[in-house]
Amino acid sequence: MVTILENPLRVGLQQERSPEPLILVIFGASGDLTQRKLIPAIYQSKKERRLPSEITVVGVARRDWSHEYFREHLRQGVEEFGDGIGSEELWNEFAQGLYYCSGNMDQQESYEKLKAFCAELDGKRGTRGNRVFYLSVSPNFFKPALKHLGATGMLADPIKHRLVIEKPFGKDLSTAKSLNRAVQKVCKEEQIYRIDHYLGKETVQNILVFRFGNAIFEPLWNRQFVDHVQITVAETVGVEDRAGYYESSGALRDMVQNHLLQLFAITAMEAPNALDADSIRNEKTKVLQATHIADINNLERSAIRGQYSAGWMKGKPVKGYREEEGVNPESTTPTFVALKLMVDNWRWKGVPFYLRTGKRMPKKVTEISIHFREVPLLIFKSAAQQANPNVLSLRIQPNEGISLKFEAKMPGPDLRTRTVNMDFSYGSSFGMATADAYNRLLLDCMLGDQTLFTRADEVEEAWRVVTPILNAWEAPNDPSLIPQYEAGTWQPTEAEFLLERDGRHWRRL
Ligand code: BG6
Repeated sequence: MVTILENPLRVGLQQERSPEPLILVIFGASGDLTQRKLIPAIYQSKKERRLPSEITVVGVARRDWSHEYFREHLRQGVEEFGDGIGSEELWNEFAQGLYYCSGNMDQQESYEKLKAFCAELDGKRGTRGNRVFYLSVSPNFFKPALKHLGATGMLADPIKHRLVIEKPFGKDLSTAKSLNRAVQKVCKEEQIYRIDHYLGKETVQNILVFRFGNAIFEPLWNRQFVDHVQITVAETVGVEDRAGYYESSGALRDMVQNHLLQLFAITAMEAPNALDADSIRNEKTKVLQATHIADINNLERSAIRGQYSAGWMKGKPVKGYREEEGVNPESTTPTFVALKLMVDNWRWKGVPFYLRTGKRMPKKVTEISIHFREVPLLIFKSAAQQANPNVLSLRIQPNEGISLKFEAKMPGPDLRTRTVNMDFSYGSSFGMATADAYNRLLLDCMLGDQTLFTRADEVEEAWRVVTPILNAWEAPNDPSLIPQYEAGTWQPTEAEFLLERDGRHWRRL
């Protein structure tokens, strides 16, 4: 239990600020993301009085919807997936700023129509030509959208126009580079907001505060004291209805290249000089540049993949990945990945970072654990068997918090030790739930703050780290060689060996 003694350190953007009036144009507005995440997040900011009354949303998609239909559809989303509409009056005020403009991502006329419609709304709503264009569409449409937005001049003003791009940003290093070039042809890097929703999670931002707002941890945060680091992002869900996307993506592209490598970079980076976007992104990029798969010539000793087979979740039988709808029965797409990464710099040389992520695991949990070295000499001889190295764990979700495992003397005349926990929990210390990641990210983008968005060079470095694995795993593969793990269990045995070979174990979560 941690008592709050003074105001928590504020990370850059958390100061109270309000965006300029603007139009948020969402491409792909009839899709799930808009209804489940984006609008509930914006409405939450509205409820918290963080948005000016002029904020306007224009949804763009192919379907022939009316403004009224769109508003009703979004209201359902806020009621079902958000925090409810609260006051009817507030919802009505917000809903008046929601518009729909049907259009085709491939056709220049649609963009001309959108441009004229937005100009008309500027007059009506006082949005002053400020725009945020949000590409919540299939990546196949990224390039056409960029071309047409560029051609209609809708991204021409580096101050007033911004562009948000959902993941996946490319499917490997060369496609990511080519997409970066396409983006940079029509706008400047300062206008681009590449989303990785993990960066919007409160506890991910707290890693920065924990590391750089406290003097006592940073001196230990290096090869001299740290034995190894583990990062786990486990999910209970399977592929759900996303086989079309997931089959060509798999866990390496879907989770590792973005979310896990972001968690890794924030954990391993050097202290930035300041909390502005570029100072932080410079350090993340620098540590990614120094990072590589542990044994590139022996990939199977540093990169393990797996696929869930039929099993049980919460007492119910569930299908194996290859039996899921839309999945090739001979699929080699990994639903689990475990990696051993090394960082060639003064801080981390020789310290392995083990990363793992998987679907259909026993628990939904995201955790970073720092495993410290053993004491140099164990003087409690009779207790030798019991002394365990210290572990600091940062719980990203759920039960957000931080705990430190250390040894203590058990009461009694014998000198026996036991591992105990010192625990900080967000819930009990702050007494409030952490906000949804999209809430924070959308607000930051409207405010023009890029700190929690990835930069071109950073995304490319992350692709570079995983490229050797992609190349090996995407060569023609015998499906029978893909290790299987039963749904509801932690991982294939091959992933256990990844650590056991080094005399270590995955932490029990
Ligand atoms: C998404 C992936 O980016 O992140 C999904 O595409 C995954 O496959 C999701 O389920 C996990 O996010 P969270 O916030 O639930 O941990």
